[in-house]
Amino acid sequence: MTIIAPSILSADPARLAAEIEAIEAAGADWLHIDIMDGHFVPNLTFGPWAVEMARKLTKMTLDVHLMVADPLTYGPVFARAGADYVSAHVETTPHLHLTLDSIKKAGAKVGLAFNPLTPLNHLDDALELLDLIVLMGVNPGWPGQTFIPGTLERIKKTSQIIQANGLSPKVLIEVDGGVAPSNAFALQKAGATVLVSGSYLFKSPDYGKAIASLRLNSDSKA
Ligand code: DX5
Ligand code: ZN
Repeated sequence: MTIIAPSILSADPARLAAEIEAIEAAGADWLHIDIMDGHFVPNLTFGPWAVEMARKLTKMTLDVHLMVADPLTYGPVFARAGADYVSAHVETTPHLHLTLDSIKKAGAKVGLAFNPLTPLNHLDDALELLDLIVLMGVNPGWPGQTFIPGTLERIKKTSQIIQANGLSPKVLIEVDGGVAPSNAFALQKAGATVLVSGSYLFKSPDYGKAIASLRLNSDSKA
């Protein structure tokens, strides 16, 4: 079954704890926490405190998406704060092996994130180290953007690579950005196993119904 990972970037910041509890009660599987440092992307969001806070509040898997220029420093910090998965962007560091290895040694599962036009070649060598591949459906940095259609083909390609290496379903494929009921089925059909959704879910009046509308069964219509 597809994993639904609401992004708390779009939750009401004045009611963060209540929002996390509400989305968990509504059936979310993972909590996606977007970390932006003002360097890799212009925005600033959360520090390790947010992961520590969420860890105390919820049993959901904590999925930390690092949009930071220095994941070698911050990957282990967020792993130690209680993240289950920590994903670093492939565009950010020349020390990719060291970064992924440091995240694993600090106790988290390891993710590698790709911007929309970043070639997927790094997967050839990094695949063995990975638990999660994050394919951006938008440019990182802001919620509420329109899904970039080419992402669909990238999901298919990634899914083929994972299968060809006998790593399915161990290595998960997450699509992040622009996910809505209008594309959720196609994304799952292409091979996405984790759907991140921020603005669609948190702007919905009924979180339970909104989650269900993304989590389509194999017999659902496109
Ligand atoms: C984009 C973030 C996404 C974002 C998704 O930089 O990485 O996780 O919160 O938001 P929506 O679903 O609104 O595109
Ligand atoms: Zn994200």
